Amino acid sequence: MTLPRTTTALALRDGGFAKTPVPQVPETLSPHLELREVPLPDLTDGQVLIEVTLAPVNPSDLFFVQGGYGQPRTAGLAAGFEGVGRVVAGKGKTAEALVGQRVSFLGTRTGTWAAHAISDAALCIPLRKDLQDTDGAALIVNPLTAVALLETARDSGAKSFIVNAAGSQLGRLILGLARDEGLQPIALIRRPGDREALHGLGAAEVLVSGEGDFAEAAQKALKDHKPRVLLDAVGDQITADLFFAMPRGAVWVSYGKMGSEAPQLTQMGQFIFMDKRIEGFWLSTWLPAKSAARRAELIARVQNRFASGAWSTRIAATLPLPDAIEGILPAYRKSAGKVLLAP
Ligand SMILES: NC(=O)c1ccc[n+]([C@@H]2O[C@H](COP(=O)([O-])OP(=O)(O)OC[C@H]3O[C@@H](n4cnc5c(N)ncnc54)[C@H](OP(=O)(O)O)[C@@H]3O)[C@@H](O)[C@H]2O)c1
Repeated sequence: MTLPRTTTALALRDGGFAKTPVPQVPETLSPHLELREVPLPDLTDGQVLIEVTLAPVNPSDLFFVQGGYGQPRTAGLAAGFEGVGRVVAGKGKTAEALVGQRVSFLGTRTGTWAAHAISDAALCIPLRKDLQDTDGAALIVNPLTAVALLETARDSGAKSFIVNAAGSQLGRLILGLARDEGLQPIALIRRPGDREALHGLGAAEVLVSGEGDFAEAAQKALKDHKPRVLLDAVGDQITADLFFAMPRGAVWVSYGKMGSEAPQLTQMGQFIFMDKRIEGFWLSTWLPAKSAARRAELIARVQNRFASGAWSTRIAATLPLPDAIEGILPAYRKSAGKVLLAP
């Protein structure tokens, strides 16, 4: 088979990092991305070429294309961190063994917002037949983070914990896991639309920061459930105030930065006298630190949950690449689930 030398991609216009802080959602994507043919580098040992079927738009992608994520951009390469597709070529024994298989993957060499992507065979996940492509597209970033963060919540010893931005795809996965482990999560959202759905997914309480009785409702929930962990992807003043209202020993786990204003830490004494702390979480450092056997176990668990229907991926829109630069942000802003790209 002759391998393609180029592929159609949403290519990054700029390299490196942005010089000033960037918002979570940009005004428009056209200053950051362009639809064009990009060269496909030769495969090196252990790499596979994948025909991409679907790739999601995650909040991390939007930070990344603007140069505001934890790793630098390479101008001219496709954007996109994860996806699902079929392996069409491989170099070396492990990579060749994947040819023909449907895999979830991270675009470790070239990004996933493209007709073809290059990845490390070792980081490709062959998919069960009963798993839908829509679940396979977003099988790595959020599901593995959900499992990791739930471990932190469980290890706190409290039956309850708080999850912020609980209506997000990740928040919903965490609620489902928590329910199935007999925990009583408190969901924090900014507007009431998702309240019933989040109760249905397993939230013991749903706090809505945009409602007038939020402060009283939060005080009551803290008193009733005594959560010790705050899982947070927002990092705003509401989150900080809630953290300082939490009991002794509380841990604020920051894994996302969707709020636009940095919070003020108004009660520094709590770090000294109440044994509180703030820590970060990044899947990119958490996952590689696990053994191969543990990673395989986590991946099997994640696939089981999607295949059994315990988890599902909400889809807001599926866009072909030519419509993506104009179409991603309007669909993303609806907050109705993942925007998927179908190259
Ligand atoms: N550190 C890691 O390794 C890691 C791994 C995976 C994900 N994450 C992070 O986890 C977060 C969720 O990811 P996702 O893919 O699940 O997101 P998603 O499905 O796209 O959902 C985004 C959610 O964030 C909420 N939101 C956005 N801005 C907000 C703000 N300023 N205040 C309160 N809520 C806000 C939205 O609420 P509305 O419905 O009200 O608009 C929406 O529910 C992201 O920050 C992502 O970067 C981190």
